Formats: sequence, C-alpha cells, structure tokens
Amino acid sequence: MKVNALIEHDYLLLGVMGDPIGHSKSPAMHQAALSAMGLSGAYVPLHIRPEGLSDAIQAIKVLGFRGVNITIPHKVEVMKYLDVIDEGAQRIGAVNTIVNDNGKLTGYNTDGIGYVRSLKEEACSDLKGKHIVVLGAGGAARGIIHALTGESPGSISIVNRTSAKAVALAAEWSSLGDLRGYGEDEANKALLEADIIINTTSVGMFPHITEIPVSPKLIPEGIVVSDLIYNPLKTELLRQAELRRCTVHGGLGMFVNQGAYAFEYWTGQAAPVEAMKEAVLRSFQ
Ligand code: ATR
Repeated sequence: MKVNALIEHDYLLLGVMGDPIGHSKSPAMHQAALSAMGLSGAYVPLHIRPEGLSDAIQAIKVLGFRGVNITIPHKVEVMKYLDVIDEGAQRIGAVNTIVNDNGKLTGYNTDGIGYVRSLKEEACSDLKGKHIVVLGAGGAARGIIHALTGESPGSISIVNRTSAKAVALAAEWSSLGDLRGYGEDEANKALLEADIIINTTSVGMFPHITEIPVSPKLIPEGIVVSDLIYNPLKTELLRQAELRRCTVHGGLGMFVNQGAYAFEYWTGQAAPVEAMKEAVLRSFQ
C-alpha cells in the first residue's frame, strides 16, 4: 500500500466527520490505536451538518489535523473540497479517509480494501477464481466490488432489489472482470454456483434483527457467507448460514480494517489491529 509522510508533529490530531456522529465507534477504536502505539494525540467525533461541510474541510488545514474519516452522509459530497482523490476512491465515487500533507488534502476509500483484507484473513484466504454474489448495489457495494475485482475472482454477481442498479453497475465495471447484474427475483440463478455470498444491504441491521436479505434455502451448503453489518455481530443471515454448515464472516473485521488502513495512511506505521478490535468489542458492552 501507499504510505504517506511519516508523523511530523508531536501531537497527532485526528477525527471523524458525520451527521449524526454520536453512535460512532471510530473514536474508541482510534484512541486505542494511538495508545497501543504510544503516540500522543486525539481522535475526536465531529458533528458536521451538510451546510457546514465545506468550512469543516477547510478547518482541517487551519487546525492542523493530520487526517479525518468521513462518514454518512458526507462520503460523496466531500470529494469536491479535496485537492487530490486516489484512483480507487474516484472510481468508487466516495471518500472515507482524508490525509492532510501540509495543507494538501488527499481523499481515499478504505472501506472496500478493509473489507477484503478482513475476508481473506478470517474466512477465505484466496479469492482467485471464486464465484462471488454481492447482495446490494449501493455505496457500500461499490467499494467492496471494486476491491474484489483486484483479487481475480471467477465472477461477481450483483443481486439487488432494484435490478436496474445491479445491471448498470455490472456494465460500468465490465472491464474489471466478469460482472453480472440481477434482480431479487433472479437470486436463485445467481446463487446456484456461489462460493461466497456478501450482504451489503442494511437488511438485518439493528433493530430489525430478524430480517434476512435472501431466502435461507437459496444458500448453498458449506460456502462462505459474509455480512457487512456488525450490529448485531451475528445477523440472521449468518445464523441461517451456520445451520447450512457455511463459514460465516461478520462486519466487525471490515470496520476494524477500514480504520486500520486509514491509521496507516495517517501514520505510515502498521496499525495495531488487535487493540483496535478489542476497543470496538468493549464499546458494545
Ligand atoms: P450503502 O451506502 O449502505 O450501500 P445505499 O447506497 O443507500 O447505502 O444502498 C443501500 C442498498 O441496500 C441498495 O442496494 C438497496 O437496494 P435498492 O437499490 O433497491 O434501494 C439495498 N436495500 C436497502 N434496504 C433494502 C431492503 N429492505 N430490501 C432489499 N434491499 C435493500
């Protein structure tokens, strides 16, 4: 990965901008990372409303923040205020991490690469040749599908409630691999040969924890089933997949690894992933 300038300041100022922001587990996670690395600094939650985003981005420079994470609803809008946008983030169309190099702001997207690192570490070490089914075709799906295309999978089938969005996304990135778009009514066709199913929709997220994005009987036995949702840690989709002897992978690893990549961009040092994961788990208790 590309490593930016090493720490120049004694005190590392970091934060996350979103609306709302109170629920974010990023401050606990990154504060734990700073402590584990023995770095002095702070990672603060910044409640920025859409009308304040432009000023808030300028403030990164004025206040000397080394970087910030960007979360809902600013990931797309923020792009127009940055000096440079990394190629991956440009393609995905969203930025979740900003690095400030002496007043020059660069935007990255670490969601997809964080997800893929987690999937490979925890559930499936080699994605080459695998037939992957992605449920959903929104912003989260874009980041993940983009990162997956870098792993030479056999195919990526996108299944979405609004089939036109799945078909359009498959067409947009047809040069990156064998991508196909399907509507929900064609899920059975897409799932027949699946090695890995990845849910990127919000179906099953707290408080709607009994909902499931695909009929359990369509899940092939013994495959890998992954869910981006980390609240709850084990969604109904993963519960049903376990009953079908699948290897299951929850969203906590993605959250931690997108943060780890951001931390690495800011500091130029390997992130203390275990300490970060423990901090997030503690914040659930
Ligand atoms: P995100 O950035 O989290 O991906 P998004 O861009 O709004 O959010 O995309 C949400 C995705 O979840 C979409 O694929 C959406 O399907 P539509 O394109 O048909 O809207 C999907 N989604 C959300 N709620 C859903 C539901 N109840 N059933 C099925 N799909 C749902």
